[in-house]
Amino acid sequence: METLLLTPTEENLLLAARALADGQLVGMPTETVYGLGADALNEAAVRSIFAAKGRPADNPLIVHVPSVEAAEPLCYIDERSRRVMAHFCPGPLTLLLPKKPIVPDVVNAGLPSVAIRIPSHPIARRLLELSGVPVAAPSANTSGKPSPTTARHVYDDLAGKLHSIVDGGECQVGLESTVLDMTREVPTVLRPGGITPDMLLAVLDEVQVADSVLRPLQKGEKALSPGMLYKHYAPKGMLSLVKGERFNVEKLIRRLYAESADMGKTVQVLAFEEHLSGYEGLNVKCIGSLAAPETVAHSLFATLRQADAEGIDVLYSEVLPPEGVGLAVMNRLSRAAGFRTLDADEEANA
Ligand code: TXA
Ligand code: MG
Repeated sequence: METLLLTPTEENLLLAARALADGQLVGMPTETVYGLGADALNEAAVRSIFAAKGRPADNPLIVHVPSVEAAEPLCYIDERSRRVMAHFCPGPLTLLLPKKPIVPDVVNAGLPSVAIRIPSHPIARRLLELSGVPVAAPSANTSGKPSPTTARHVYDDLAGKLHSIVDGGECQVGLESTVLDMTREVPTVLRPGGITPDMLLAVLDEVQVADSVLRPLQKGEKALSPGMLYKHYAPKGMLSLVKGERFNVEKLIRRLYAESADMGKTVQVLAFEEHLSGYEGLNVKCIGSLAAPETVAHSLFATLRQADAEGIDVLYSEVLPPEGVGLAVMNRLSRAAGFRTLDADEEANA
């Protein structure tokens, strides 16, 4: 199949919407990352999403709709969830809600809940309206790779496996939506994102964050969100995170960089704008501002993909405090590094 790269004209959106309603796969921009969409009520179409991504069938998909009204046939929405939706939807938030029978099991891996998201991206919204179907869409990357934040990323991973990709430019948030489980007594963030727990407290009395957000699952532990089981977001090169006091971090990274370079490896440092001067003379990439974690979120996946394109063998990254949007950044960065974290302060005192 030749994959069409579409500019988002009304005519092209109609073409893509028809393909969706027809059971085909379409890459679509959202405010978080690009999605690989298919008609959520068409089992065969949904199966082809899993095939195209190489995604395990037990990892459920998010269903995208243009409005709360369009979500009603798919799930039960109580008063508390309605409040959350009224405040944050459309936007980068996904709610787990009790599912109605119309949703085929293939969408949500047979779980009692279904994930619902109302994106705010105008192109996604128009596409959803025109297609007239609820759209199941995971991130449009090959399973395990960093999520795509440009149409080009989608093309690089999936060309030939989908009908078309609508090009909406760079995604604004850059990390996937916050996944909030509303089926529990205390609403629980299973995947942190642009909507932070603090923000959610504006309309909820209590919010919990799943404690697996910043650590690997233990052997035998059941994943609350099956997506957390898998190695994720990883670049091809070996990424390690380095934490500690700023000058200890610089010192350790400089030493490890030299060791790797001596072994003939291509090395790259991922550092905050504020710290770039500490890595003069090294191959260093700015990952945004420490003072503005949303800038790190915005460019993280693109930076990891770029490292792959440059053939980087070894990467060392600075870390930021897991607070606010920083929690979402550290959730993805930790997984991208396979939880390899070096403590520069310990090293300095050794
Ligand atoms: O921002 C986003 O959420 C993007 C855009 C395209 O909307 N989509 C996205 O989908 O990130 P995906 O499939 O890459 O991630 C969905 C996550 C997975 O970790 C999955 O396990 C979890 O949501 N999930 C979906 N339905 C679930 C359910 N019923 N119960 C628990 N976890 C669920
Ligand atoms: Mg994904």
